[in-house]
Amino acid sequence: MDVQRFIDDKVRELRQAVGSASAINAASGGVDSSVCTVLGHRALSDHLKTFFIDNALMRQGEPQRVVQTFARMGIPVTLVDARAEFLSALRGLIDPEAKREAITQAFYAQIFRRLIEETGARFLIHGTILTDIEETVAGIKRQHNILAQIGIDPEKQFGYRILEPLAELRKDGVREVGKALGLPNEVYERIPFPGPALATRIVGEVTEERLDLVRAATAIVEEELAPTKAFQYFAVLLTDKATGIRGGKREFGHIIVVRCIESTDAREATVTQLPWKTLSRLADRITALPNVNRCLYDLTPKPPATVEYV
Ligand code: XMP
Repeated sequence: MDVQRFIDDKVRELRQAVGSASAINAASGGVDSSVCTVLGHRALSDHLKTFFIDNALMRQGEPQRVVQTFARMGIPVTLVDARAEFLSALRGLIDPEAKREAITQAFYAQIFRRLIEETGARFLIHGTILTDIEETVAGIKRQHNILAQIGIDPEKQFGYRILEPLAELRKDGVREVGKALGLPNEVYERIPFPGPALATRIVGEVTEERLDLVRAATAIVEEELAPTKAFQYFAVLLTDKATGIRGGKREFGHIIVVRCIESTDAREATVTQLPWKTLSRLADRITALPNVNRCLYDLTPKPPATVEYV
């Protein structure tokens, strides 16, 4: 790919599409939305308003980290506190597709619609990439951000148009573009993080308490596994519980799964062969979390597993 040419083309296309109107986008801290944010600002400057939607599903310290990272690049990011809306949309849901649908609706029918109204913008810029589209169309996964490709007309349904400048790229291409746009390498080299965020790592109901647990476990996994340079690594909370012993007493506690994979574009993945010492340290730290007495390492490649659990 000719990266510079790609950037020039997309800048021109975004300007042409938006014209004298304006656009909004949401930065989640993930690679795709970060690259989209910088590309969007290069094309539209202050005709683009960027938001960080705090949906209660984000990683530890993420709202502040995202705002600071973009502030250093001269891009203002406005924090939107949508925690209550997302938690109430997810209450009582167990089925994975129902959870994804609730998140899609909360984003597109509630939050983005409101932000579009408040800002007077006409367009939403999206970090959808080719793999998201292919896997959703093939029925492998319902990515939260796929709409038009599965027959949803966002303009009719939500009242705004969606622009997807990264829709021809896979993850490795997105990273090349991020690098060429001058993003700091800790941003474009960051491990992928899905739009539905920690909800994809909670099997069963997403509650504040269960989010706190998976968020704390995720922070441990990210800290311990960053030196591996693996493609992606995270923690998952299961609904099953298991018996353990703590302080000489039996307890029925939570089970956390650690997943760490190698891949180039997340279409296929193999499991990272982590050193035993690393695995033991992870187990020690994760079972020190309250009421967690098992830590498992997922040995399943993709396929047959997907990367995420929901
Ligand atoms: P799966 O679980 O489908 O994940 O094997 C493949 C890659 O995509 C990420 N992922 C998502 N990203 N919205 C996103 O923006 C989503 O709904 C979504 N679901 C999965 C996942 O983290 C992995 O890198």
